[in-house]
Amino acid sequence: MIVLRSQREIEKIRRACKIVAEILVKLKEHIQPGVTTLDLNVLSEELALKHDAKPAFKGYHGYPFSLCTSVNEEVVHGMPSARRSLAQGDIISIDFGVVVDGYFGDAAVTVPVGSVDPEAERLCKVTEGSLYEGIRQAAAGNRLSDISHAIQEYVEARGFSVVRDFVGHGIGQRLHESPQIPNYGPPGKGVRLKTGMVLAIEPMINQGRPEVEVLGDEWTAITADRQLSAHFEHTVAVTENGPDILSRV
Ligand code: MF3
Ligand code: CO
Repeated sequence: MIVLRSQREIEKIRRACKIVAEILVKLKEHIQPGVTTLDLNVLSEELALKHDAKPAFKGYHGYPFSLCTSVNEEVVHGMPSARRSLAQGDIISIDFGVVVDGYFGDAAVTVPVGSVDPEAERLCKVTEGSLYEGIRQAAAGNRLSDISHAIQEYVEARGFSVVRDFVGHGIGQRLHESPQIPNYGPPGKGVRLKTGMVLAIEPMINQGRPEVEVLGDEWTAITADRQLSAHFEHTVAVTENGPDILSRV
């Protein structure tokens, strides 16, 4: 069942999302060679505490951290580690969520560490662009897969591939609600989008092949071909005035 949110509820989700967005900006400022992914996790928890927000991922299905840090060939759910120091030329996806007053916000960005290879840079830009293409379709009257299709078309026209094994999701009083939102597929399928739906749209885009593997830690997803992957996510409300990006800074 897809819950339709009242204006009041959307404002509560926006509060959570704003905190997520601000924390992602602060984390981004700390991304530089030598910083460990665990440093970023610690900082995310300190910042959440300052905002009186509870990190949403910690303890979720046993996930032991507050932040997901996915470096280079890591697609999503990379686990922070004191042994993983960032190096110039890496790209890192930081994915963060909080719950405030019973409502969740979720967002992610991929950030270059220092100056990176032009193709790595292009992968990040195209992934972010595909998120906005998807968001543009999050309008009342469209079908769910219009979002999926717009992302896939944009990405594949630019020579990259869409990860199939993970999807976006509804969000509100739980981190993951209905519907699931694939980042690929034909247009015009699935539920009709209605005012009040709140969706976390999150394309995960690979430089090479779309296949992923999950490591022995049972969380970290990596590309099967070990090429780079990027990930951007926004929480978006479908409103009568079109898509409203709740996690925009
Ligand atoms: N943004 C990710 C998602 O929506 C983060 C989940 S990580 C988890 O799936 F640890 F909470 F599972
Ligand atoms: Co998400």
